[in-house]
Amino acid sequence: MKQTLTKGKRYRIEGPAYIMVLEGELLALGKILRPRESLVVPKAKAMTIEVLEDSTVEVRLGDGANIVEETEEFIPPEWKEIVERILSYEKPIKAIILGGVDSGKSTFTVFLANSAASRGLRTYVVDSDIGQSDIGVPTTIGLGRVRRPVTTLSQVRMIDGYFVGTVSPAPVMHRVLVGTSILVDKAVERYKADVVIVNTSGWVTDAKARELKWNMILLIKPQVVVALERSNELEPVIQCLKGFKWLEIIRAPALPRPRTRSREERRMLREASYKRYLREAKIRTFNLNKVGLMGATFSNGVVLPRERLMELQEMLGINIIHAEETPDRLLIVTERPLKGSVAKAKELSMKFEKKVDIIYKGFEKGIVVGLWDKSGRFLGIGVVDDIDYKNKQIRVLTSIRDDSEVGMIQLGQIRIDENGREIEKLSSYVL
Ligand SMILES: Nc1ncnc2c1ncn2[C@@H]1O[C@H](COP(=O)(O)OP(=O)(O)OP(=O)(O)O)[C@@H](O)[C@H]1O
Ligand SMILES: [Mg+2]
Repeated sequence: MKQTLTKGKRYRIEGPAYIMVLEGELLALGKILRPRESLVVPKAKAMTIEVLEDSTVEVRLGDGANIVEETEEFIPPEWKEIVERILSYEKPIKAIILGGVDSGKSTFTVFLANSAASRGLRTYVVDSDIGQSDIGVPTTIGLGRVRRPVTTLSQVRMIDGYFVGTVSPAPVMHRVLVGTSILVDKAVERYKADVVIVNTSGWVTDAKARELKWNMILLIKPQVVVALERSNELEPVIQCLKGFKWLEIIRAPALPRPRTRSREERRMLREASYKRYLREAKIRTFNLNKVGLMGATFSNGVVLPRERLMELQEMLGINIIHAEETPDRLLIVTERPLKGSVAKAKELSMKFEKKVDIIYKGFEKGIVVGLWDKSGRFLGIGVVDDIDYKNKQIRVLTSIRDDSEVGMIQLGQIRIDENGREIEKLSSYVL
C-alpha cells in the first residue's frame, strides 16, 4: 500500500516489513533513503525512520508487522557526540562495543560505521557475536567492510571470517578471542582500515563473561570501549580498566525501547540465517587422507586391528564398522544405534582408562562444520551429510565455490536439519 509521510515526523516499524521510497527522503540510522531505495525490517526486529522531506512510500507489512508514529527520538542523543569523539581519534581506530542483550550493540555499530563511512573512512566491522551474528552466519565471527551507509549490518558482506563452531561463546571463549584478534589484525594490516568496530555478544553478567571481555580488550588493545548501559550492569566489566592510559571507556545509554527478542525469536533468526547461507549449497565429497578433520578422533588416530575390533564387537553384541583410538580416546562406530550406548561407553571407559565414544553410522548427519583452505583461511561453513568411515570420505553440504581449495574441515558443536533448525548442541570430539 502507498502511504504518505510528513516531514519532521518519526515512525517506528516493526518487522517483517518492506518500505520503498517513491518520493521524498527518509533517514534511518544515519543512512539517507532516496527514491527507489528500500528498507527491509526482518521479523522480530524493529527500526525507526525520520522523515527528512515529505515522502510517499510503498509499504508492505508481513504478519505481526506494524508502522506507528513515534514521538521521541529512538537513538539516544548522546550517541551522536560519542561517535564524533571516537572518529576524532588517531587512525586506525579500534573500538569495542559492549552491552547486554538487546542493549543496541548492533545498532550502535551501524550508527558508528555509517558515520565513519560517510566521511570516507575505510570502515570495517568484526562481528564477534556468534549467536546473533549480523555479518556472516551463526557459528562464525565475520569481518565486513561498510563502504556506504547501511540500515542493518546484515547488508554487509562477509569478506573474511573465523569458525567458532557453536552459537554460545562460553565453551569456546578461546576461539572467540583468537578469531576476533585475527580479523581485527587483518582489517588493519591487510585492508588498511581507518576504523575497526568490534561488535560483541550480549553475554556480560557472570564471571566467565567478564573474563572473555577483559581478555578481548587486552588482546585487541582498542583506543575505546563503548559500554551501552541500562543501569550499572557493565560496571563489573569496565571498572577495573580505568587505570589504562591507552583506553578510554565511554558509557553510553542503551537503546531506550528496543524490540526485545525471545530465545525462540533469536533461534528463529539464526535458522533463517543458516537457510539463507545454504540456499545454493551443493554436496561436496572430501577425501580425509588429504584433507584434515579437526576436533575428531576419526581420521586422527590409529585404526584398531581386526582382533580388537572383534573383541569389542563381542562385548557390545553389535556390528562395528569402524574403531579408532588416540592416546586419550577410543571411538567406536556401530552399524546401527546401540541401546544403552552411553552406559556401555562409560563401562568401557573404566576398563580402557580412556574416554570411549560409541556412535552409530548416520550420527554424523547435520553436524555443522567449518571449511578452511590450504593456506589457513576460512572459506565458509557446511553441514555433514554422510561419512564413509571405511574409505575416509566425508560428504558436506556447502556453498563454497571451489572444493579443491579445502585443506581442513573443523567439526562444530551444533547439529541442524534441512531447514536450518538447530536440533542439538554437541560436545567436542563427538566422532
Ligand atoms: N532504529 C531502530 N528503531 C527501532 N528499533 C530498533 C532500531 N534499531 C534496532 N532496533 C531494535 O532494537 C533491538 C535491539 O537492538 P540491537 O539488535 O542493536 O541490540 P543488540 O544489543 O545488538 O542485541 P543482541 O544482544 O541481540 O545482539 C532489535 O530488536 C532491533 O530490531
Ligand atoms: Mg547484536
